[in-house]
Amino acid sequence: MNEYMIDIKNLHKTFGDVHALQGVTLQVKRGEIYGFIGKNGAGKSTTMNIMAGLSRPDSGSCIVNGHAINTIKHPGQLSIGYLPEAPAFFGWMTARESLKYLKSNGKNHKSVKAAEKGSGQEMTDIDEMLSWVGLADVADRRVGGFSRGMKQRLGLCQILMHEPELLILDEPSSALDPEGRSDILRLILELNQMGKTIIFSTHILSDVERICHTVGMIADGRMIVEKPLAEMLRQDITPVFELELGSAIDAATLAELQRDANVQKVDQISETLLSITVNDEYSGSRSIISWLAFHTIQLRSLKLRHINLEELFIQEVNGGRS
Ligand SMILES: Nc1ncnc2c1ncn2[C@@H]1O[C@H](COP(=O)(O)OP(=O)(O)OP(=O)(O)O)[C@@H](O)[C@H]1O
Ligand SMILES: [Mg+2]
Repeated sequence: MNEYMIDIKNLHKTFGDVHALQGVTLQVKRGEIYGFIGKNGAGKSTTMNIMAGLSRPDSGSCIVNGHAINTIKHPGQLSIGYLPEAPAFFGWMTARESLKYLKSNGKNHKSVKAAEKGSGQEMTDIDEMLSWVGLADVADRRVGGFSRGMKQRLGLCQILMHEPELLILDEPSSALDPEGRSDILRLILELNQMGKTIIFSTHILSDVERICHTVGMIADGRMIVEKPLAEMLRQDITPVFELELGSAIDAATLAELQRDANVQKVDQISETLLSITVNDEYSGSRSIISWLAFHTIQLRSLKLRHINLEELFIQEVNGGRS
């Protein structure tokens, strides 16, 4: 069995004179949650459309769930669930009818109504699904009046109808308020625990930090870094302690801290505020605490600051480490 659910190499795609993808390489491991991040226009949706079998690349290879994308006759062969940025529904159907319609593989609306009356089992599955995504109360409301958040939730139900192993979600949470985003992230985690592999795109980096195993950052149609989240956050990080002191200290006392072998740099932000860059957090904190104790300096607060994905993203996009 292939370790990768998605294996993309050197993908190129142009639209007229826009070179949207300029050699994207990306690998999503079976069973993981992959966060695909990049600014507006970076090429996320273009890449995801190709993964979903909806658009062909100009060159490069793309293998999804064991199928080379260029050889498939129909996207249905991939057995994936693809949620576009703005999922579309028949506005005149209710949420429940929409899912019924899909389950009946697009038979006409009348047959959906008939099926609804006849089959209790299907009805339960659909109701369970609607309540799982928090739409139980609006199950009989027309989808035309749904907010974007409600449509995203219904879209999630829609793509799960045929039990795909791989979910490709294009900005499932970006348009939602913090509560709605948390809900969607929780649903993604639950789906992953059920064994599904998930790739989702976003420009909200804290969402990625909360649930992803691997992060891929794309800029100007190129993958600039792809790494396990933990590794990404660990690498090249110099810890910084922020100290608020009870009173001002003299230069000689400060210089003493500066001379400590575990301390790289002391920045005095104000009379009582220090920012101390250390070699590593354990020896650094020991040095700071003994310095405070030795000089009986009163401490108001001590905080260890970690770099977050946002700072890292800005560094990568502007400087490009690798
Ligand atoms: N159908 C199209 N016709 C012309 N240009 C397109 C088309 N689709 C995408 N592009 C261009 O390709 C580039 C990448 O767009 P894409 O939609 O993939 O970005 P994105 O990362 O999904 O951005 P966003 O965060 O805004 O959704 C952009 O310059 C965009 O204008
Ligand atoms: Mg997009």
